[in-house]
Amino acid sequence: MTDQPTPPVVSSALDLIGRTPMLELTGFDTGPCRLFVKLESANPGGSIKDRIARSMIAAAEADGSLKPGGTIVEATAGNTGLGLAQVGILKGYKLLLVVPDKMAREKIQHLRAMGVDVRITRSDVGKGHAEYYQDMAAGIAAKLNNAVYINQFENPANPQAHEDTTGPEILKQMEGDVDAVVVGVGSGGTLTGLGRFFARASPKTAMILADPVGSILAPLVERGETVEPGSWVIEGIGEDFIPKNCDLDFVKKAYEIPDSESIATARLLLTKAGILGGSSSGTLLAGALRYCREQTEPKRVVTLVCDTGSRYLSKVYNDSWVVEQGLVDRQLHGDLRDLIARGASSGETVTVGPGDTLLTAYNRMRQADVSQLPVIDDGRLIGLVDESDLLEAVEDRRTDARFRQPVSTAMTAKLSTLQANEPLDALLPIFERDQVAIVMDGKEFLGLITRIDLINSLRRQA
Ligand SMILES: Cc1ncc(COP(=O)(O)O)c(C=O)c1O
Repeated sequence: MTDQPTPPVVSSALDLIGRTPMLELTGFDTGPCRLFVKLESANPGGSIKDRIARSMIAAAEADGSLKPGGTIVEATAGNTGLGLAQVGILKGYKLLLVVPDKMAREKIQHLRAMGVDVRITRSDVGKGHAEYYQDMAAGIAAKLNNAVYINQFENPANPQAHEDTTGPEILKQMEGDVDAVVVGVGSGGTLTGLGRFFARASPKTAMILADPVGSILAPLVERGETVEPGSWVIEGIGEDFIPKNCDLDFVKKAYEIPDSESIATARLLLTKAGILGGSSSGTLLAGALRYCREQTEPKRVVTLVCDTGSRYLSKVYNDSWVVEQGLVDRQLHGDLRDLIARGASSGETVTVGPGDTLLTAYNRMRQADVSQLPVIDDGRLIGLVDESDLLEAVEDRRTDARFRQPVSTAMTAKLSTLQANEPLDALLPIFERDQVAIVMDGKEFLGLITRIDLINSLRRQA
């Protein structure tokens, strides 16, 4: 190991963009093919978008639209924003980003920690609506002084970055021999840039699209069908319009990947290869695996891990979220048990004991992001402690011991219990009393159902 060349010392994080590693995946069913992933998650901003942030900012500086001290405005699902912040803040610019509200909270936290002005907007409206993220960003930039709307969807420096850097790196790492590259489309920059590069430098290389079900792109490529856009949970890829930067003529074949397959495949990448990729890595890998298995000749196939999974820990890698979204096959009982997000029998319910301190109860509520905890004594449910019980017990500022009191002094023993086989309607009077439902099977405690669990269930049915 020690005699392998190590990267040189650099004096700016900007010099760490690109030259990302390539990993061959083994232990996956790739049919007759060999499959490689390029780890764009290794960029300093954690995603492929560092490359375009660097090129788009350089282009805006060169054409004079971005002047010292200026503000960069962008509509972004997060990664482009993180890349722009990574490059822009180091270069002394201010950042204002408009982000749709379905995006993972880790990205927003990361952006705010970098000092970015983040404006959250609706993700349920389309192009032309004033609250659509791109229209909103364009509107804000037009009203600000010394501001530029970077617009990755139309900016030619976006595909150029991939034509100049990502493409040549892939071909070099693959020693000039690559039969197919599987990509996703957000702005289309990756597809168009790589498409242009390979058409010139390696015409045998086919561009393959992996697209979330609900996006309009794959149906158009595969069947020439113009469909109404649906919704999907995968972030960064899939479109409800065709961006100017997206040249679909490069796509030889497209796969429509359901969210559940993307998530299962992202998790497989982690457990089989030790790579924590973002949600779209699951989509791209699922598309690449389908392509590999369909081949009859051995081929060398490349796909991308476009961003790090550490920004999706609350989603893709969070069992409760995956269940809430209905994205895993879960054994259904056809009764109230199906609404329990964290079951007691699987050890997922967060609980306290009667002798635990109120500080322990508080810490567990904060850590698990819940507002109440069942109190369990010797395997038996004996009460419930919620935020109002906690507040009532600790509001007396005169005693130092407030948070050291045992849970038993603050808990409620009057519980609203339901048997698992009772109808959904039985939940409503409980919620009207501002309580949560405790679900039992005979004497066995199964878990809690709160208002949000019922809302989640109604949303899954819709
Ligand atoms: C998270 C993420 N963002 C963006 C992209 C592609 O983006 P674009 O089409 O904007 O180049 C990908 C591609 O796979 C992606 O995974």
